[in-house]
Amino acid sequence: MNYDFETKIDRRLSGSVKYTRAPEGTLAFTIADSDFLTAPAIQRALEERLACRDYGYMIPRAEFTESFIGWFDRTYQFELKKEWLLPVSGVVPALAVAGHVKSGSVIMNIPNYGMLLSAPKRAGKEVIEVPLKCRITEPGTERWEIDFNRLEEAITPDTELFYLCNPHNPVGRVYSLEELQSISSFARRHHLIVVSDEIHCEILYDHRHIPFFTVDEYAMEHTILLTAPGKTFSIPGIGGAFAVIPNKELRERFQAVSYAVGRPNLFGVAALTAAYRDCDDWKRELLEYLRGNRDYLETEIRKRFPKAVQTHVEGTYLAWIDLGAYINREEQEKWLADHAKVMFNGAEFFHGTGHIRWNFATQRENIQKALERMEKAF
Ligand SMILES: Cc1ncc(COP(=O)(O)O)c(C=O)c1O
Repeated sequence: MNYDFETKIDRRLSGSVKYTRAPEGTLAFTIADSDFLTAPAIQRALEERLACRDYGYMIPRAEFTESFIGWFDRTYQFELKKEWLLPVSGVVPALAVAGHVKSGSVIMNIPNYGMLLSAPKRAGKEVIEVPLKCRITEPGTERWEIDFNRLEEAITPDTELFYLCNPHNPVGRVYSLEELQSISSFARRHHLIVVSDEIHCEILYDHRHIPFFTVDEYAMEHTILLTAPGKTFSIPGIGGAFAVIPNKELRERFQAVSYAVGRPNLFGVAALTAAYRDCDDWKRELLEYLRGNRDYLETEIRKRFPKAVQTHVEGTYLAWIDLGAYINREEQEKWLADHAKVMFNGAEFFHGTGHIRWNFATQRENIQKALERMEKAF
C-alpha cells in the first residue's frame, strides 16, 4: 500500500465525538467517522488554504463544482449539469429542510440513520416509519429489504415525500437497480418526492451504487439527491455537501427553503475540491483496507460467536450485528460497554431493536482487541 491507514492519532485531543464519549480505556466503534488520516491531497489543500491567511467571505472558484461534476462523470458515466448542483453546509441540515419542498408527511424505512429520522421531524414534519423486512439467508446471516406491501399499507393521502438512505446505514445494503426502480414506481404511484441520502455512496465492496435520479424518468424529475465526501475521506467535521436536483422547479423550491442551511465554508470548499478531484488512488486503497476489515470482522464473528446474526455489509463501513444469543438482546450496547469496555451504537438510535452497529473504519488491531475483550467477557 502506498498510503497510510495504520497511523493512530489521539483523537481525544481534538474533541472527537467518538472518543470524548468513551471513557478512558474503552475502545470506541460508534459515530460514523473513520480513524484514518485523511488523504495527503486533502491535507495539502487545507494547508495551502491556511497559508493564504485570508478568511474573508469568498466565492468558490469554478473548480469546486467542476471537481464534483468530474467525479460524477468518472464514477457513473453521467454528465451532470452545473445548474443542478446546490452546495450546502451538510447532509443533515439539508435533510431537515428538504421536507419543506412539500407540505405533506414523510415516509421512510426503519431501522435508519437516526438523524435522517429526526431531522425532518425536528423541522416540523410528520414522519411515518415503516420497518424493513429481514430474512435469514444462511445461518448467522440476515439481509434487510424494503417491504413494499408495508409501505403501501402505511402511506396516507397526505404523504408527499420518501426519504431513502442508500447505501443504507445501518443495515449495509446497496440497493439494486430493481429495488430502486420499485421505489421509483412506488413514488410515482403516490406522487412522492424522493429525498435520497447517498453520503455512503463511495464505500462499496462488490456492489455498484446507482444514483437515484438516474433510475428512470420519474426519478429524474422528482429527486433531491444529497451527498458528501466526509465519510469516505475522513473529513466529516469540516462539513460541506452537495444537493443535486435535476428538476428546475423542485430545485427552486429547495433553494427557497434551504437558505438558512448555509454553504460549505472555505475549508470545506478546499477539502471537497481535492476529495472529488485528486484522491481516486487513495480511495482505492482505503476500500482495499476496509474490505479487509469487513471480511476479518465477519469471519471472526462467525468463528468466535457462532450464534450471532450479522448482515453481510455491501456498502458503508458499518456492521449491524445481533449478539442477543449471548447477552440481553435489548441491552447489548450497555452490556458491552460495562463488561467488555467496547462501545457501539445501540439499535434505538436507528429506531431498530436487538442489534449493535459496529463502525469498522479503524485500524484492524482495534477490531482484534475488541473481539478478544468481548470473547473474554462472554
Ligand atoms: C446516512 C447519513 N447521512 C448523513 C450523515 C451526516 O451528514 P453530514 O455530516 O453531512 O451532516 C451521516 C453520518 O453518519 C449518515 O450516516
